[in-house]
Amino acid sequence: MTANTELLLGVNVDHVATLRQVRGVPYPSPLRAAEIVEQAGGDGITIHLREDRRHIQDADVEIIKQRSRLPLNLEMAATSEMQGIALRIKPAECCLVPEKREELTTEGGLDVSKQVAFLSDYCRQLSEAGISASLFIDPDPEQIDCASEIGAAIIELHTGAYADAHQPEAAEQELRRLAAGVERGKKNGLRVNAGHGLHYDNVQPVAAIPDILCLNIGHAIVAEALMSGMFQAVVRMKQLMAVARRKD
Ligand code: PXP
Repeated sequence: MTANTELLLGVNVDHVATLRQVRGVPYPSPLRAAEIVEQAGGDGITIHLREDRRHIQDADVEIIKQRSRLPLNLEMAATSEMQGIALRIKPAECCLVPEKREELTTEGGLDVSKQVAFLSDYCRQLSEAGISASLFIDPDPEQIDCASEIGAAIIELHTGAYADAHQPEAAEQELRRLAAGVERGKKNGLRVNAGHGLHYDNVQPVAAIPDILCLNIGHAIVAEALMSGMFQAVVRMKQLMAVARRKD
């Protein structure tokens, strides 16, 4: 299978903010991470403003929208508070996700079929403001059809079941579901993205599915950035300490 267009990478910088929030300090900065993503050739910035503000804060959304030149994909629950923020900030895309306070990360896709009228209205208001409405859903034919029925511009297919599949046959089955979901979404006139739980060892079979436009990846990239940057971080601290000693 060869993909026929360039596959874009949206980098989710939420966990840069997680590291900052656990210490209540101003660093590390999600904006600085977004700037490095741009320099490295990333195609978009994804951030999830959760209702409990556990990582990304309102001020992060503001400053990343103002200062990053990459398109911003704002993930959020479909609440009126979040809609107000989105309509004011105007990210390029808003990805609506289900949100539970007790979850560690977004656990499942949105059940679009149970809230067709509500989500139609919600997405219409976003698109009237020039924001592409995206729905984070499982690769389920009913959900995909409902997403196009309600007028969403984009679906992001949840790759979590694929990422969690431990047996090769189960992973293959999930890949087939994803590929069929991409095809169905495309036939319905939707732009199709995918993401969740993708990492350096499992991304390629998903990346090879033709017609996915963008993969949104966060945790694995932030984790790898820690390891890739650890050497330089230690060298820099040692240098500062040595210079201070020489001044004595
Ligand atoms: N897409 C959506 C809709 C998400 O909620 C998340 C997690 O915030 C991601 C992609 C990125 O997932 P991960 O951090 O596992 O790469």
